[in-house]
Amino acid sequence: MRYLLLLLLSLPLTAQRTSFTPGGQWLDTDGNHIDAHGGNIIYVDSLETYYWYGEHYAQPRGAACYSSQDLYNWTFEGVVIEKGDIEVFERPKVIYDQANDRYVMWFHYDGDRYSIAELGVAVSDSPTGPFELVDHYRPNGHESRDIGLYFEPDTRRAYIGYAADHVNRTVRMVELSEDYLSVTENDVDIEAHCEGPGILKRNGTFYLLTSQCSGWTPNPATYYTATDSVMGPYTERGHPFVGDAGNNSFNSQPCFIFKIPGYRNAYLYMGDRWNGRGRTESEYVWLPITITEDGEMELHWLAEWDLSLFTPARGR
Ligand code: GAL
Repeated sequence: MRYLLLLLLSLPLTAQRTSFTPGGQWLDTDGNHIDAHGGNIIYVDSLETYYWYGEHYAQPRGAACYSSQDLYNWTFEGVVIEKGDIEVFERPKVIYDQANDRYVMWFHYDGDRYSIAELGVAVSDSPTGPFELVDHYRPNGHESRDIGLYFEPDTRRAYIGYAADHVNRTVRMVELSEDYLSVTENDVDIEAHCEGPGILKRNGTFYLLTSQCSGWTPNPATYYTATDSVMGPYTERGHPFVGDAGNNSFNSQPCFIFKIPGYRNAYLYMGDRWNGRGRTESEYVWLPITITEDGEMELHWLAEWDLSLFTPARGR
């Protein structure tokens, strides 16, 4: 009897997850709804761990970090930076700086009615924080609201796509410095519209996925392609959500595209199902992104799916 009790006590509080259920209730390993919205995922080779960062709406508000070994089961690592006096703290994106073994977080820093429109940057020696605020400003003088991040593994350079001037009339792309701690002057208007930018590269072509501007209400996303450079020029290609009956990107807004290591061309669409506004209970829509033989981007609805959909690759 005593052994049975010990066994029961040692069992995890929630059942191990083995699949993704877009739009479902996603619980962390403590049994709480995952509270990490509008963020991104990194994989740190040396730690063999995925880290998921996002907006944390429960107190203390700021950015949360969750860790996982398999992308399905996530452990809450805490709030890695508190928003404190910052009125609006949205869309955190973290890059691992391998050369300096530290973690850099960029985010949307804003104030009353989104009128400050700046980028914020913070740094930490550990993936689980604490992150210290380094600076906040308008990149090269441009308004900056929703942000996306692209990390180029070949050159180890990173780029931020940001919803920019005249209240997100356009998306601009800016290259970060070598240490990822500041923006360079390589900053162009890529004439895309207008929020939630996610970026991937496939066979030398860059794909940019963006939502329209309708606040927390979902809308049909658009994708763009550019050859050779993440800085563009980009061509508009249309709405990639196939069979999207609600014409609202399966009721989600993009926040990031994560290239899953260990698989061939495995691109994970990360979208937020805000359900009216950003809050703890807002949900997640994660789906595989397909680039067809003709180079078109497609997303298909899957109520439940797992990584066996992808072809394993050798090495990570
Ligand atoms: C959305 C944006 C969110 C948040 C919201 C506020 O368009 O993507 O990140 O800023 O507006 O209304």
